[in-house]
Amino acid sequence: MSTLSIATAAEVFDLLRDDLAAIEQEFSRQSASNVEVITDIARYLIAGGGKRIRPLLLLLSAKALGCTSESRIRLGAVVEMLHTATLVHDDIIDEADTRRGRPSSNTTWGNAKCVLAGDWLYMQSFSTALEERNFRVLELLISLTQQMVEGELLQIEKLGHLINEEEYFDLIFRKTACLFKVSMQLGAAVTPSHEFGDPEEIEAQLGEYGRNLGLAFQIVDDVLDLTAAEDVLGKPVASDLREGKATLAVIHALERGTGADREAIRTVLADRSFTRVSHPQILEILQRHGSIDYAMDTACAYAEAARLTIADLPDSEAKRALLWVPGFVTSRDR
Ligand code: IPE
Ligand code: IPE
Ligand code: MG
Ligand code: MG
Repeated sequence: MSTLSIATAAEVFDLLRDDLAAIEQEFSRQSASNVEVITDIARYLIAGGGKRIRPLLLLLSAKALGCTSESRIRLGAVVEMLHTATLVHDDIIDEADTRRGRPSSNTTWGNAKCVLAGDWLYMQSFSTALEERNFRVLELLISLTQQMVEGELLQIEKLGHLINEEEYFDLIFRKTACLFKVSMQLGAAVTPSHEFGDPEEIEAQLGEYGRNLGLAFQIVDDVLDLTAAEDVLGKPVASDLREGKATLAVIHALERGTGADREAIRTVLADRSFTRVSHPQILEILQRHGSIDYAMDTACAYAEAARLTIADLPDSEAKRALLWVPGFVTSRDR
């Protein structure tokens, strides 16, 4: 067993600073359209910031295999553009009014323009990816996009209904973990000639890290939706229940709760509002059954599983950073 130490946040940032700056530039360059409103919306989204965790994963995956090619910068921009496109569409679907601490783009430009700007960003990310002339890259991105769209659609069909854990995990894999997985796989796909073992196996192993980390990430996102303050989170809170979405802690409480607890949760999900049962009442039910702790423990278990999947990668700065990311994901507050 390796005794490699986990990197600190400052070390990770130092390691990736130049590459992340190059990705920001590439994203900016790629978001210029002849149609001004598209450029305006894209620039607004870029300026809103965001954690940039998907390009960070892609960079670390590529670096762990010794990649030095420009592909990592281009594809880092690709995954962030794709992510941005999904956020634009997601805020329209969820009727959200804040994102990254600012009015969401749909509030400023309206749904019609934002649907189209999202489509444009999707296609721009594909056109950037096409520059790689690498079929594996396109294959990964196409099946990813279909999974994400299927995930959002399945979620819409389940709104207001009680779902079980299996359905929940299927949804969060499609809508979130799949992009984390593909970000890691892309890092490997652009570094085909390394000496770390069978390229297909390495890609699968790094993908498995991304899948586990992505599941942890969405479980935490769902917990934060229940427990965080909007000014810290930068997006609406308690919105999942208001949209009729049952997430892990809620599913846990539905399974353990008394008849009255279950009825209270069902009421909020069916009403899609807190008018008859309040948000603090729901939180009290979740606390009483240890449901928030259950969800966080589950997220931590996936985070740990992510660490274990890369245990036998050769030691490197990138690997130390990949060991840091799971802790960042589970301890974040936004
Ligand atoms: C938000 O993703 C959408 C989810 C998958 C939960 P992030 O939390 O990575 O959003 P930004 O990019 O940092 O704003
Ligand atoms: C994230 O789901 C799904 C995406 C792929 C955008 P959420 O609906 O929970 O994301 P947030 O909370 O709005 O960021
Ligand atoms: Mg949303
Ligand atoms: Mg959310």
